Amino acid sequence: MNDLAGKHLVLGLSGGIACYKAAELCRALVKAGATVQVVMSQAAEQFITPVTMQALSGRAVFTSQWDKRPSAGVDNQMPHINLSREADAILIAPASADFMAKLIHGRADDLLSLMCLARPIDRVPLIVAPAMNREMWAHPATQRNVTQLRADGTRVLDVGQGEQACGETGDGRMLEPSELLDDLLAFFTAKTLLGRRVLVSAGPTWEALDPVRGLTNRSSGKMGFAVAQAAQRAGAQVDLVAGPVALPTPRGVRRLDVSSALDMQAAVLALAEHADVFVAAAAVADWRPAQMAAHKIKKDGSGQVPLLEWVENPDILAAVAASERAKRGDLYCVGFAAESRDVLAQAQAKRLRKGVPLVVGNLGPETFGRDDNALILVDGRGHTELPRASKADLACRLVHEIAQRMALG
Ligand code: CTP
Repeated sequence: MNDLAGKHLVLGLSGGIACYKAAELCRALVKAGATVQVVMSQAAEQFITPVTMQALSGRAVFTSQWDKRPSAGVDNQMPHINLSREADAILIAPASADFMAKLIHGRADDLLSLMCLARPIDRVPLIVAPAMNREMWAHPATQRNVTQLRADGTRVLDVGQGEQACGETGDGRMLEPSELLDDLLAFFTAKTLLGRRVLVSAGPTWEALDPVRGLTNRSSGKMGFAVAQAAQRAGAQVDLVAGPVALPTPRGVRRLDVSSALDMQAAVLALAEHADVFVAAAAVADWRPAQMAAHKIKKDGSGQVPLLEWVENPDILAAVAASERAKRGDLYCVGFAAESRDVLAQAQAKRLRKGVPLVVGNLGPETFGRDDNALILVDGRGHTELPRASKADLACRLVHEIAQRMALG
């Protein structure tokens, strides 16, 4: 994953036990392609050493405004100016209650607070990840500070909930490094679907034959989940209807697990009533057994194979595309076509057959279960190839292509 490639971040640590998570966060940011400059308060140094953060970021850590070393390549003994000028964002993680109180007053008595105050406010966004005891978080003073920070243009991230270092349980934990990385990626994503409601179907369906057997397919759900995540990062409110897959729910996405095609159809039709976009990434089983046996079907010893009767499943996408809202243009429908050959021709035919404005073609056997794919987008004007890339990258591209087409009307 290289989603933060080209981004330079200042990671600021104020004092708190959550500093241990900042080490993993720093590593995650670097792995995502960012360059990271760490700045620590004196209180943070009580919890984790600059040596650790230097090793993980690969850069000298700054802790004092009196530091005489050149900073950001400039030898003027002004780290508070130099370090902030080159940043695409400053992320304070953890942000202690005390540090947030300092920020709202424009206090500048150490390098970290001084640098935040001295940053070019229009160009360098400030993001804070609060971390504190639940009583401190709930205190009216802290909540007042959060409101003031937001009014001043600072992005205050959510806090986590759960067991705290002090032994108490409640709100106030710092988000996990993976959650912070998600929020940061969302922060840098253009909000092309802001205010839109996006419905995504993903994964296979399971058509039960008896309590232990069934018909399914090799869809991993990865592409649909990536689309849900990309749409959420682009500002949409996302509902994800997922067949049986073992994937974590993308942050900020509402997920509904289903099993059979009929379950998926019921969930999708209900949610489509309020959606602006429907992306049908699910690999819906084409058939289901006419009847599900109440108990496991047994061999009868004769060597005869049981005769199974199958019925065709409803076409969920075609049904949604035929709805009044879709026909009026209030619901933009996108289909997938997982083929084994002639992707372009098959996707073109499928687009017409399903009555949808956009179909995303791909070679099924070359992508099932993998983290990458190559896509062909087919619409009424022609086709666009999206060369092989990670499913996360392709999902971002697809979301922006959808947003563009919706904007054109
Ligand atoms: N789809 C659906 N309901 C179905 C079958 C497919 O909503 N019962 C949707 C899929 O989510 C996908 C698109 O229709 O967006 C195409 O699915 P695909 O399985 O490729 O096509 P089929 O319509 O099943 O046609 P075929 O199996 O003949 O290729």
